[in-house]
Amino acid sequence: MKTVLYPGSFDPVTVGHMDIIARAAAQFERVIVGVVHNPQKPSGVFPVAVRMEMLRTAVKAYDNIVVQEFSGLLVDAVHACSADAVVRGLRTSADLETEMQMARLNRQIGGVETFFFAATPEAVHISASFVRDIGRYGGRLEGLVPEVLRSQIAEALRERQ
Ligand code: PNS
Repeated sequence: MKTVLYPGSFDPVTVGHMDIIARAAAQFERVIVGVVHNPQKPSGVFPVAVRMEMLRTAVKAYDNIVVQEFSGLLVDAVHACSADAVVRGLRTSADLETEMQMARLNRQIGGVETFFFAATPEAVHISASFVRDIGRYGGRLEGLVPEVLRSQIAEALRERQ
């Protein structure tokens, strides 16, 4: 297994995402972090270009990680970038339900396998949506987002209140 695609919204990247990215980079030759961009859907809080720029900052120390944008079906993105499989993180049993469904569908419609990493206990409670909420009301983001991005994320979220 050489190249894996780790897809997500990353709106914004959290320490939970970074846990999965770091562990995937240790197990596979190359990790493509795929930021989903579906023009038909609401764009989220951070523009996709900003999410990608933040991810690139966060993964700067790794030489086997690239950050790319994708739109459309995940299975098509996997084939387009010649990845061998998908990587996702699992936090809770609620994640499990949805992730199993997506993994099975992606295998059925595109022959794409999914590898799961069990979220580290320190990050199991962290989600981008709660980070957005906390940041919007000026709450502390220490330990929730990569330290190098903390002030950028905090400022951007406060401005949206
Ligand atoms: O970070 P998220 O929002 O949990 O990531 C969800 C994502 C991007 C992995 C999922 O929405 C996705 O794969 N979207 C691409 C469209 C697609 O392939 N949908 C069918 C999935 S079975």
